[in-house]
Amino acid sequence: MTIKKVAVLTSGGDAPGMNACIRAICLRCEHHNVEVLGYKSGYIGLINQDNMILHPSMVHNLIQRGGTLLHSARCEKFKQDEYIKQAAKNLNDADIDGLIIIGGNGSFKGAEKLQSMWDKPVIGVPGTIDNDIAGTDYTIGYHTAIQTAVESLDKVRDTAEAFERIFLVDVMGREAGFIALNSAISSGADHVLLPETFTSAAEELVKILDKLDKRRHHRANSSHIIVVTENIWPGGLEILKDSLHAETGVAVRILTLGHVQRGGSPVWQDRLLASKLGDFAVEELMRGSKGVMAGVRSAIPVAVKFSEIENAKKTLNPYSMKMLESITLLG
Ligand code: ADP
Ligand code: F6P
Repeated sequence: MTIKKVAVLTSGGDAPGMNACIRAICLRCEHHNVEVLGYKSGYIGLINQDNMILHPSMVHNLIQRGGTLLHSARCEKFKQDEYIKQAAKNLNDADIDGLIIIGGNGSFKGAEKLQSMWDKPVIGVPGTIDNDIAGTDYTIGYHTAIQTAVESLDKVRDTAEAFERIFLVDVMGREAGFIALNSAISSGADHVLLPETFTSAAEELVKILDKLDKRRHHRANSSHIIVVTENIWPGGLEILKDSLHAETGVAVRILTLGHVQRGGSPVWQDRLLASKLGDFAVEELMRGSKGVMAGVRSAIPVAVKFSEIENAKKTLNPYSMKMLESITLLG
């Protein structure tokens, strides 16, 4: 099948580098003389036939910008077959020969369903700060989110140290600990709470107190930074805060980093990854692939079937886990 017109959209949580990916898609398409149509606000735009022509001139000066030129959204309707069929019809009405979806795990579920109801190719590109997509070493936005978290952790340590306080720093990740683990190691935090290893509030509290005890033995009168994956503590972080204060007598503060982790100019790793994967996604379309994600393994782009990703769970780096104990105890 000849590819003459390609559509692209960004869906789910936006991630720094999505723009760099859109840019790469447009530039590679221009190289092949292929027209690009951008659908706005993820699957909402697809259902409502809300799109814009993406001329290569529109992606000039875009590689360094956070957010997404096409806007992103979550769209509950897209979980129903009737709306997916509507999307397939809209793509046909717009003469689209292939669709590239930049998004996270949820967006890929939608992409896989759309692929089963539309005869033209759908290619996914992993774009989420959470890095929780199997089949790819990294996702677009992940490195920038870690950089943002590390900068914030460095800053909060200054005030924590001045007041000899305990800080609970809540980072994003949905149900995965990639941002928490790597920002904790990179900032020399004292402890980290990960969904992958969390047992119960009672057991985790004992582990934290033990860690704080040992830490104080090495360095009295110092601050303590605990990185916490969002939504991990049953009942919320205020409960952990109160327990820690009651047990140690030390003042405890909570810092929720929140959506700043999704913003800002992408770091070079995300620009490079986004450029590579955007380019590769177009090349995959040109060579006739369908129903695959354009991922990366050992810096080489790879095509991975949606069906292989769907139920696979990505694991945290075992070596990072192994060195966690020594690094966070004395750092
Ligand atoms: P992300 O893509 O960042 O993981 P979400 O999980 O919110 O974000 O998913 C983004 C969108 O993908 C959803 O709003 C919905 O439109 C679509 N989606 C998610 N799960 C499904 C599903 N099971 N079937 C069809 N579409 C889905
Ligand atoms: O998937 C990206 C992410 O930022 C998660 O880390 C977080 O749990 C979620 O999206 C937040 O979603 P919202 O922007 O809807 O609050």
